[in-house]
Amino acid sequence: MNTSPMNLSSGAAATKPSGAAFICARAVRKTYRTGERPVEALRGASLEIREPGFYGIMGSSGSGKSTLLYLLAGLDRPDSGEIEVAGARIDQMNERELTLHRRKRIGVVFQQYNLLPTLNAIDNVMLPGILDGAARGPLEKRARELLGTLGLADRATHRPEALSGGEQQRVAIARALLFEPSVLFADEPTGALDSANSERMWKMLDALAHERQMVVLMVTHEPAAAAHCKHVFVIRDGIVAGGFDTKGMHASDLVVRASGLGSETR
Ligand SMILES: Nc1ncnc2c1ncn2[C@@H]1O[C@H](COP(=O)(O)OP(=O)(O)OP(=O)(O)O)[C@@H](O)[C@H]1O
Ligand SMILES: [Mg+2]
Repeated sequence: MNTSPMNLSSGAAATKPSGAAFICARAVRKTYRTGERPVEALRGASLEIREPGFYGIMGSSGSGKSTLLYLLAGLDRPDSGEIEVAGARIDQMNERELTLHRRKRIGVVFQQYNLLPTLNAIDNVMLPGILDGAARGPLEKRARELLGTLGLADRATHRPEALSGGEQQRVAIARALLFEPSVLFADEPTGALDSANSERMWKMLDALAHERQMVVLMVTHEPAAAAHCKHVFVIRDGIVAGGFDTKGMHASDLVVRASGLGSETR
């Protein structure tokens, strides 16, 4: 896998209005009522991110990590609490406003890359723009640039089946960056990758955050992943139990620190 040269700079600064937080969640609650018994997934979770960078969310299985990420990404609604992302109060938006906000300001990457198997890499990257009614010419130029900066210039016409897992995930990241979001959310983005590809992916996410001055917020259960983040939040039983800066920490120190706040490593 070729990840260099890694010039990810687009010249576009994040779109956060000055003074506003990239992410601010206050007392967010979410109960799922789909099963026989309600599940309180979030019980008043709060967190704040004011500076660009690569951030992690850790916590044991079922603690509410994905739920929080989905709510911050505007993919689901909280029952109560306030959520501000990229300068906008998303908990107060109607469906149409939320859809536009998600499309223009937010990128999301999942463990499963969710690429369309019938489209090649460049068409997968362009898809959100096509759906948005954008002109094909500028879109294609942008998609090609993104694939290039992610080391995939020579894979643009490959369909997903002809790409490795790491390459597919980079296509998914290129797609998430199409509209120059100021926040990129990632839920266990390396869950389906081997350790060498995972390591490259974490370095790439860190480089993206720095060079584009954006926030990358990643859910992970891997201490090696969290060691690439500048700050890690730990969720316990639906609440953000705390957070710590990881500067200079090895993965083993990080496990001790995170488990002190209630995160078991799986
Ligand atoms: N759609 C849903 N319907 C009902 N319960 C749900 C739903 N999604 C999640 N839950 C429950 O909410 C709780 C929090 O789930 P969540 O997916 O946020 O955990 P997580 O921290 O991401 O866990 P993991 O590390 O296993 O991915 C869990 O108890 C889970 O079973
Ligand atoms: Mg999860």
